[in-house]
Amino acid sequence: MVKKWWKEAVIYQIYPRSFMDSNGDGIGDLKGITSRLDYLKYLGVDVIWLSPIYQSPNDDNGYDISDYRNIMDEFGTMEDFDEMLEQAHERGIRIVMDLVVNHTSDEHEWFMESRKSKDNPYRDYYIWREGKEDGSAPNNWGACFGGSAWEHDDETDMYYLHLFTKKQPDLNWENPKVREEVFDMMTWWCDKGIDGFRMDVISMISKTAEMPDGEVKDIYGNPNPYCINGPRVHEYLQEMNEKVLSKYDIMTVGETPAVTTELAKQYAGEDTHELNMVFQFEHVEGDGKYGKWTDKKVPLIQLKKIMSKWQTELYGKAWNSLFWDNHDQPRAVSRFGDDSPEYREVSAKMLATCLHMMQGSPYIYQGEELGMTNYPFRSQEEFRDIESVNAIKEWCDSGVVSMEDFWPCLLKKSRDNARTPVQWDDTENAGFTTGTPWIGVNPNYTEINAKAETADENSVFHYYKKLIALRKQNPVMVYGKYELLLEDSEELFVYTRTLEEEKLLVVCSFSDKETVFEIPDEFVGKACLIANRENAYDKKRVVLKPYEAFVLR
Ligand code: GLC
Ligand code: CA
Repeated sequence: MVKKWWKEAVIYQIYPRSFMDSNGDGIGDLKGITSRLDYLKYLGVDVIWLSPIYQSPNDDNGYDISDYRNIMDEFGTMEDFDEMLEQAHERGIRIVMDLVVNHTSDEHEWFMESRKSKDNPYRDYYIWREGKEDGSAPNNWGACFGGSAWEHDDETDMYYLHLFTKKQPDLNWENPKVREEVFDMMTWWCDKGIDGFRMDVISMISKTAEMPDGEVKDIYGNPNPYCINGPRVHEYLQEMNEKVLSKYDIMTVGETPAVTTELAKQYAGEDTHELNMVFQFEHVEGDGKYGKWTDKKVPLIQLKKIMSKWQTELYGKAWNSLFWDNHDQPRAVSRFGDDSPEYREVSAKMLATCLHMMQGSPYIYQGEELGMTNYPFRSQEEFRDIESVNAIKEWCDSGVVSMEDFWPCLLKKSRDNARTPVQWDDTENAGFTTGTPWIGVNPNYTEINAKAETADENSVFHYYKKLIALRKQNPVMVYGKYELLLEDSEELFVYTRTLEEEKLLVVCSFSDKETVFEIPDEFVGKACLIANRENAYDKKRVVLKPYEAFVLR
């Protein structure tokens, strides 16, 4: 397998709004990030993925960009950015920018021009269509955050497409001028010295030209397959690669909803000249009761099946990202582990072991290294996220589901769970801000915080630190071949990784009960690389405690 620095890297995702506030306005900012770089250096991460920091009216917290070459006022200035980049580089940490180019904000200059008239030079930067004869939307596509994907614009009496909120109009990638603008902007950032791009919903940039109705699911017609993995997406990415990416030693990761392993080999193949890796969602999806909303846990057997498929099918052919959570997902320990006081720490460590020992580049979402948990929402008013707010309207206010039924789903899956401030210490507001935080701070910060965990050798933090260090010393963690054992176990996730003479056995219990495990003969008496509990692994039969995890080599 070809060796690459980004395959060996551990990536840490920062959601700037909630990371660290430097000036007391309650909103995280760039200076705040700079002030915590030493913490990240100590943890040992190689790369920061920075969620969007560009000018934005914040309809979707920065994923609606109104100016790609300026910094959001709330986050600071371009000088603050340059300083942060320099300080990160001094510590050997690279910075990967979020690139949101499926859509812009409706307050972007291009869109403000585009909507003015049918013959405006920017008209074709976006996707405009006439309504149907009765004046209704051009087709039945639904937007990802609820409602129709079409918004009527009075100015010219036409509809524009927005696969997300109506303040996020989709760019028209068919227009070569749009592609040129995007590539120029990317080049501008690369020349500034950034280290790569995480490409937001990049699998959605090409839409089927005829735009047929989708199959009706829930309330609206599902746009897939007409605007996900669309007909020209690979052509666009190859063009981007040729004109921009290939000129720099950068890391590129495509957020690719609805990607299959087959398609991943094209998006992120070893020699397809598109992206370095995909970021796919199969293991965190498909459990939905109402659209994406549910309060159920995916059964372990199903989870293993999905993850193993990605492990084996991409081996030697393409590269994947490894993650349990991010800014769009609930907290890992609350979703896949057990966030009760008794098991929070062990289960967070177990999940980390399970993920970091797999093939792919691991991502740590801010606070995950502390075992931060979901937020105990008490009322609707506490939600900030447009997706959650819209979901309440779409599912409850419309009478499809009662609030009583929907509430547990919101608690479990709202994106706001991941967006509460990072818990730095046990002072007011968890040390995140001296002002009023823009979103609630999880009250458990008095127990769970970075100050306490960096001081405690046995903390979740130190466990992550150790896993990251192990990755640097054990190429088998990066390049080894994966094989699943005990496929049918409902409690244990067990697999091996093999690279020439080196072999690892990874054993993770997802159960809150004791389980018996028989160590395969070839591993009996082997050294333990890491474990989250006190136990002896030198005999064949081990009784595993709840959420126990260990790795033998
Ligand atoms: C991606 C982002 C998400 C955002 C959406 C629209 O899925 O991760 O936060 O809301 O794209 O840009
Ligand atoms: Ca601030």
